[in-house]
Amino acid sequence: MNECIIAPSVLSMDFSKMQKQTQILNQSQAKWLHFDVMDGHFVPNITFGASILKGFKESSSLYLDVHLMISDPVKYLSDFKKAGANQITVHVESFSNDIKKIEEAIRLIHELGCDAGITCRPNTQIESFECLLDCIETFLVMSVEPGFGGQTFMENQLEKVRWLKQKREEKGLSYRIEIDGGINSETAKKSKEAGCDTLVAGSYIFKNDIEETIRELLK
Ligand code: DX5
Ligand code: ZN
Repeated sequence: MNECIIAPSVLSMDFSKMQKQTQILNQSQAKWLHFDVMDGHFVPNITFGASILKGFKESSSLYLDVHLMISDPVKYLSDFKKAGANQITVHVESFSNDIKKIEEAIRLIHELGCDAGITCRPNTQIESFECLLDCIETFLVMSVEPGFGGQTFMENQLEKVRWLKQKREEKGLSYRIEIDGGINSETAKKSKEAGCDTLVAGSYIFKNDIEETIRELLK
């Protein structure tokens, strides 16, 4: 059983207080920092790229968990590695769900020396990606439609978490089951019960007392 990790999402930070909030996170019980990259094409929103990640690498001691919501992730993998990514997660839809292409992206991520994650939109079924489970470090379950923070948790996505947990046991694997979107104390509890060991949380952490909320999510 993996220990539970909280991954605060940079997307919901108060960007006028970035330095202060990064310091608070460094001292908190959070172990990962979740970094949402959006290109305005794969999702209808634009966020930040590798140069901003580099700034976080310099000011944060946390493991940098990069979630690429972009149309051509392979083109930018080495930029994110150079900027300090510890893990890079790609969407299967960025590869039109083509197993061979996703496999190749995972191989490239590993070749760069990063951990590799895969994820999908809520409407994408995951059974056909079973063959990829033995070559990833993390499967990220999206519990909202990717693109924006502050949305409502989609409870039906916990089915995927249960399936991933069962497959992990059957196959004797140890990939992390991460969940992203709409996490608060109630949905965190449900996610952990279903089998999640890594919780991304944005608005819930940054709208409240950061350290205390992280502690609460870990309980
Ligand atoms: C949504 C992003 C999430 C987002 C979560 O596309 O992938 O990481 O920051 O934000 P909350 O926790 O506010 O739903
Ligand atoms: Zn994310």
